Amino acid sequence: MTTDSVGIDAIEIRTGKLELDLAETFAPAKDEDPGKYTKGLGLRSSSFPDVYEDIVTMGANAAHRLMERKGLTPADIGRIDVATESAFDNSKPVSTYIAGCLEQVFDEDFHHANKGERKFACISGTQSLDDAYNWIRAGRNRGRAALVIATDTALYARGDAGEATQGAGAVAMLIAEDPSIVELSPEQGIGSADETDFLKPNQQFPSVDGKRSMKVYLARMREAVEDFESVSGDTHPDDFEFIPFHTPFPGMVRKAGLLGYRHIIRGTEIEEELAEEIGHQPHPEESEDDEAYLDAVREYTDALKETDRYREWYSQVIEPTLGISRHVGNWYTGSVHIARAAALKYARENGIDLDGKQLLVGSYGSGAQAEVHAETVVPGWEAEIAQLNIDEQIMNRYDISYEEYEQIHDVHNHDEEADAEPLTAPEGEFVFDGWGRMGERKYTFVE
Ligand code: CAA
Repeated sequence: MTTDSVGIDAIEIRTGKLELDLAETFAPAKDEDPGKYTKGLGLRSSSFPDVYEDIVTMGANAAHRLMERKGLTPADIGRIDVATESAFDNSKPVSTYIAGCLEQVFDEDFHHANKGERKFACISGTQSLDDAYNWIRAGRNRGRAALVIATDTALYARGDAGEATQGAGAVAMLIAEDPSIVELSPEQGIGSADETDFLKPNQQFPSVDGKRSMKVYLARMREAVEDFESVSGDTHPDDFEFIPFHTPFPGMVRKAGLLGYRHIIRGTEIEEELAEEIGHQPHPEESEDDEAYLDAVREYTDALKETDRYREWYSQVIEPTLGISRHVGNWYTGSVHIARAAALKYARENGIDLDGKQLLVGSYGSGAQAEVHAETVVPGWEAEIAQLNIDEQIMNRYDISYEEYEQIHDVHNHDEEADAEPLTAPEGEFVFDGWGRMGERKYTFVE
């Protein structure tokens, strides 16, 4: 017997244990104005992995805490899907390494769990969520849940403009029937096209056309929203309590939020009420040519951004999704999932009742594809979100100097043979422990 109610039952977040302060440490070293980071990109700091951390340890540590907290054993898990764009092996999936770690601390094994690895830049975390959802809705799960782990070390080559938006961390999510946090909508919208904006052709650090990547993000997101509306009906700002977007850096979401708002107020009473102040939205047939139309849209959007109505909506619906991202940077596959978690955390801390309320979730991956779906928050979400310890983890990170940053970056660079002493002491966690005879990475649990 399958149920319609499938979604996220538990979330754990694991940040890399080092912190790079962008305004105080990075900007001065690059001879840049700190305002570019704090105001322009909207970032205060980014997370980095210590020398014994990587995508496996961060993913396994998040999954371990989740399973312990929920009282689960491997027999309860029928599927382990890892989403990453930082994999170090073109054949053996990261999920096998993570299962191997977990088998060191649980009595049972995961021999009957289907394991895989999903790749489509940052959107593969959401695609893995979809795979788990479909597997459960199809009734193939035998009452078991799926573990979805989005884990990345989002590092760029030194000197690349993307260096400003790095980060490292993992999000583990338990996808189950009758979930305790959110139920996923069966409706989804996709915006997808063959794009060359950000890619890693058999190389560790990305080749990026930064400015173009931002345009592609917005174009695909708009396509996905339109596709979503074609199956779920027109959206309205009042429909959604929060809209978590993929967050490479908060400044990107500022742009996505503004375009999204312009789109969803079109033809509504909100557009009418704002018309007195800023006019109606331009229509292509009212302009002489495409260029004139785009100028008119730009002018309208600039005016919209300054209205109290928009600012209030942004501060209630979008701003709360950025609360974690500001302190940790880009986590690629995990970014949209920390945006959702940040919004729910904010709601809990501010006594906002979310039972039965809707979220609209906008995921994105370069290359490029956007996906939009709705989620319904279910009773029980507050107790689950209360278990998150991400604030404590963020606070306890070791604050690195610029010289330490360079060393750590080299240690994690697959082309460098750099070695460095750890800057933190592992405790009650999985750590990277060297290489095995076939070049595999080895892990151990440190008490
Ligand atoms: N005070 C206030 N604001 C300032 C400032 C100051 N002193 N100095 C600069 N700014 C503003 C700029 O005006 C700019 O804001 P707007 O875009 O709103 O104009 C912002 O700060 C950034 O400054 P720059 O544009 O000068 O920064 P940059 O050229 O160094 O690069 C970037 C920015 C293109 C995002 C670069 O960091 C990059 O390439 N990042 C990686 C690619 C990326 O994240 N793309 C996002 C979309 S793709 C995606 O989402 C997938 C993914 O995860 C990678």
